[in-house]
Amino acid sequence: MKNGLFISFEGPDGSGKSSTMAFIGHLLQEKGYSVVLTKEPGGDEIGQQIRQILLNPMNQEIHPITEAFLYAADRAQHVQKIILPALQAGKIVLCDRYVDSQIAYQGYGRGFLSKDFLYDLNHMASGGLLPDLTLLLLVKPEIGLMRSKIRDHGQSDRMEQEAFAFHQKTCQGYLDLAKEHPQRIFTVDAEKPQAEVVEICWQKISSFLKEQGK
Ligand code: TYD
Repeated sequence: MKNGLFISFEGPDGSGKSSTMAFIGHLLQEKGYSVVLTKEPGGDEIGQQIRQILLNPMNQEIHPITEAFLYAADRAQHVQKIILPALQAGKIVLCDRYVDSQIAYQGYGRGFLSKDFLYDLNHMASGGLLPDLTLLLLVKPEIGLMRSKIRDHGQSDRMEQEAFAFHQKTCQGYLDLAKEHPQRIFTVDAEKPQAEVVEICWQKISSFLKEQGK
């Protein structure tokens, strides 16, 4: 039985979702909510080991199928060990990336596996668990990549090192996902100043909590 609420944050690399999520987590805690902040890949110890394989720039030989299964394996571990127990305990789970990342990156970005295959794979990995609400922070790929370069002092990971066309396709994926799931996915213009982005996300989450009677 799931009593909590599951909110994911999505967006291209450098969209500012991690820091926005941290602000939102803090605001929710101040209001007295019990909140769990987590991320993919790497939500627990096992997930961290999978993350190392996935993001290590040395691992150029990972095949797109292997990559998809590794992200899915990380998700299975994360759902079972972190997300579901927290939701069952009535907590609000804020998750930095989830299934939409897989569709945008392994689906649109790689262009190797079909969306249907990836949805089936994720259904198996997550047991069909979807977020109650997804905040999608959108920035143009050139802006996102520039921001993550500055943030990481030029030390980009294996995914960030992908060609610009890969990131463009990923962004297109997110736009399509937002059109396909308008009930669940709320899009935010993340090129605005961060304080404004946090405020827009906070307004959305506050009204969502009210609607849910929380
Ligand atoms: P991370 O350092 O967490 O990036 P960010 O701070 O931008 O969220 O790295 C996660 C990377 O993994 C990111 O490039 C997106 C990618 N990813 C996928 O390709 N598929 C997935 O299913 C997930 C969860 C992430």
